[in-house]
Amino acid sequence: MHAAVRAAYFTIPKMNRLNTKTLPQSWVAVGISMLMATCAWAQEPAAAKAALQGSAAAGEKIAQSGSAGGAAACASCHGAKGEGQTGFPALAGQHAGYLERQLSQLAAGARQSPVMAPMAKSLSEQERADVSAYYASLKLPVKAVRGPLPGKNDDAGAWLVERGRWADGIPACAQCHGPGGVGVGKDFPAIGHLPADYMQSQIDAWNKGQRDAGPLGLMGAVAKKLTADDVKAVAAYYQRLHNPAAAAAPAKP
Ligand code: HEC
Ligand code: HEC
Repeated sequence: MHAAVRAAYFTIPKMNRLNTKTLPQSWVAVGISMLMATCAWAQEPAAAKAALQGSAAAGEKIAQSGSAGGAAACASCHGAKGEGQTGFPALAGQHAGYLERQLSQLAAGARQSPVMAPMAKSLSEQERADVSAYYASLKLPVKAVRGPLPGKNDDAGAWLVERGRWADGIPACAQCHGPGGVGVGKDFPAIGHLPADYMQSQIDAWNKGQRDAGPLGLMGAVAKKLTADDVKAVAAYYQRLHNPAAAAAPAKP
């Protein structure tokens, strides 16, 4: 049933590929919003059956002290306030629905991680909803800023985030992940604050079939087309976008 929707999606970049020179940016935006509307429609039945009410207060206890079922305190790896640290992604401010989906996929083996999977497995569905509600209630460290449309002299990071690379059928990261990579709803997580190493580890996981390709397989399809240099450039661009003062200090040749 999703196959038709997926097929519809893949015709969009193809159409644009033929017309990149003449097609106004706004058409591309229209194409993507149609895609997003289709996604929302396609996801309706799944959304209707899920949704346990999470308690942020109960989630905070698990995050700080661990769970009855033996999961270690999330804070010990993901940081006291879910801010993340090297090797451990930030959780603060991500949509609860996204976090819950990742925890169920980790528990089910659809997303593989020797460290995280056993912990996800040991949490009950209610506990997953609780920790997700807790982390969603914390502040995301990046704001919704959209950079200027890149031109000839801008690097792959600026192009990929703000415009995409239609010759390869890659829509702008911002089209799905929101301005500044702050995320859009439960389907599209915030990425504007993620370090290049973690981004790359997830791209590798998709390409090796170790992480579920996500809603409608959208991100799995994008991951196949990103090089290691692309990922570094995207992370560096987001850093410049969110902290222009720090980026301006060392003059660029
Ligand atoms: C021993 C360290 C450790 C502990 C403790 C830990 N995690 Fe993790 N967690 C990880 C690692 C490593 C990853 C990245 C897995 C990967 O590369 O896919 C991760 C990933 C995640 C993700 C996916 C994030 C994303 O952006 O997709 C979620 C959600 C998560 N952890 C929640 C939790 C919760 C909730 C707890 C507490 C019950 C917890 N973690 C405890 C190590 C840990
Ligand atoms: C067509 C929509 C779409 C586009 C365009 C897109 N993404 Fe995604 N991305 C997704 C979806 C959906 C997910 C969530 C997958 C899941 O649920 O596991 C995701 C997840 C991610 C994650 C994982 C975040 C985490 O916390 O683990 C990273 C990293 C990422 N995308 C990077 C990018 C980059 C970089 C670009 C631009 C080059 C991009 N994405 C463009 C749809 C998209």
